[in-house]
Amino acid sequence: MAAYEYDITVIGGGPGGYVAALKAAVEGRRVCIVEKGSLGGVCLNEGCIPTKTLIRTANLLHEIKRAGDFGLEGVDAGAVTVSMPKLQERKAQVVRRLVGGVRSLLRGRGVTLVEGAASFVDAHSIDAGGKRITSEYIIIATGSRALIPSFIKTEGKNRILTSREALELDALPSSMAVIGGGVVGVEFAYLFNKLGCKVTVIELMEHLLPMVDEEVSGLARKRLEKEGVVVHTGAKVRLVKDNSVFFEKGGAETSVAAECVLSAVGRTPDTEGLKAAEIGIVFDRGAVMTDESLRTNIPNIFAVGDVNGRSMLAHTASHEGLLAVEAICGGTGKMDYGKIPSCIYLEPEIACIGLTEKQARERHKNVKVGRFPMAANGKSLVEGDTEGMVKVIVEGELSEILGVHIYAVHATDLIAEIALALTTEATAEEIIRTVHPHPTISEAVPEAFMAALGKAVHCT
Ligand code: NAI
Repeated sequence: MAAYEYDITVIGGGPGGYVAALKAAVEGRRVCIVEKGSLGGVCLNEGCIPTKTLIRTANLLHEIKRAGDFGLEGVDAGAVTVSMPKLQERKAQVVRRLVGGVRSLLRGRGVTLVEGAASFVDAHSIDAGGKRITSEYIIIATGSRALIPSFIKTEGKNRILTSREALELDALPSSMAVIGGGVVGVEFAYLFNKLGCKVTVIELMEHLLPMVDEEVSGLARKRLEKEGVVVHTGAKVRLVKDNSVFFEKGGAETSVAAECVLSAVGRTPDTEGLKAAEIGIVFDRGAVMTDESLRTNIPNIFAVGDVNGRSMLAHTASHEGLLAVEAICGGTGKMDYGKIPSCIYLEPEIACIGLTEKQARERHKNVKVGRFPMAANGKSLVEGDTEGMVKVIVEGELSEILGVHIYAVHATDLIAEIALALTTEATAEEIIRTVHPHPTISEAVPEAFMAALGKAVHCT
């Protein structure tokens, strides 16, 4: 057997890569991780964490404006302004702290960090910033980058931002046109609207957030509109001329002028400079093709996270990272992409898992749907936001949980219970039999399942 310098080398230090490296070290392997940018990847540096940090301030501002509703007097909400430079400073601090945490975890576990861009030389060796590294196994975790699709033409002098640039703004634009009403488009629309910018969202499909159950995304749309966001759905953007976005809607051409344009029409796997195709790795529509154990067509090479194009979420990437290392160590675990929760950070939050009602009805004959309105949940009333619901979709005969869609305060924390239920194949009855603490938002979950089975207690 050839002697390799490392047992496992990971390319990319995002939530897929650094978790894989740590897990490999925990398993006693000699591990190297190569990173060309900042550890933590998109998630820590220009995605999940910075966005949520900015959204935290937007939510706080909103709460201050409502201070009177909570019995506080003397708060001059009109005098409160947002300092974008200070907000950026806080964001940078949060990011620095987390990136530093990843670095010390890797160091603590004895993982070798090589800073530089990696490219394949052959199936067992890579070049990283001029240094040759040999490894028995290699895990590709190079992530994705924002996509500005070629079907959107540009003319004149544009100011088109991707989410990356939008997170760096140190002056608030007076208006923004957002192309795409997926997760990025909607979260940024929510954020900038709350901070005081006039936002218009233009989405191709008939519904915002096409992956979310229509009933739930419809509620979120209404709330966004009530708060001042202008939403166009069924609208296809063709051209950005200067900072006006031209789109086709119902057969007519319309346009929206804004100070800047945010392009939020998806992301594409990032394998630039990796030379993966050159050593024979097979791609599918730009993504590295993997099996359910995250193995590519070359048996000692794995791919985890956005680069495999399966589910572009940080928690998927980390889970795939763990599973890939387990597979290398002889494990037989497989990814189940139907059981991955999705979280959208609005107010209230959206969290969902499994099938939408529409998908469930297409695939199953006997579908039962239960809803519990948050207006009937005591803790929501205490929190001061009673909008939304827990919607559950159950297979009628076996009480199998098919999907859960939550639009409620703290929804993103509630969905983990359902993820566990799906993993352990718990039924609706088992959730109902589980004692949920009072007063909590979580009480709405068993109530919705009771409603699905026609046994609602706290709602009619
Ligand atoms: P996306 O694919 O979720 O949404 C893009 C949207 O643009 C779609 O709704 C699509 O219909 C629309 N679109 C495409 N062409 C258009 C056109 N010509 N005119 C108007 N609309 C058009 O992509 P997004 O939102 O950029 O997110 C990228 C990835 O990052 C996703 O996988 C997402 O799940 C992930 N992400 C997750 C977050 C979270 O979990 N909270 C936050 C941000 C991103």
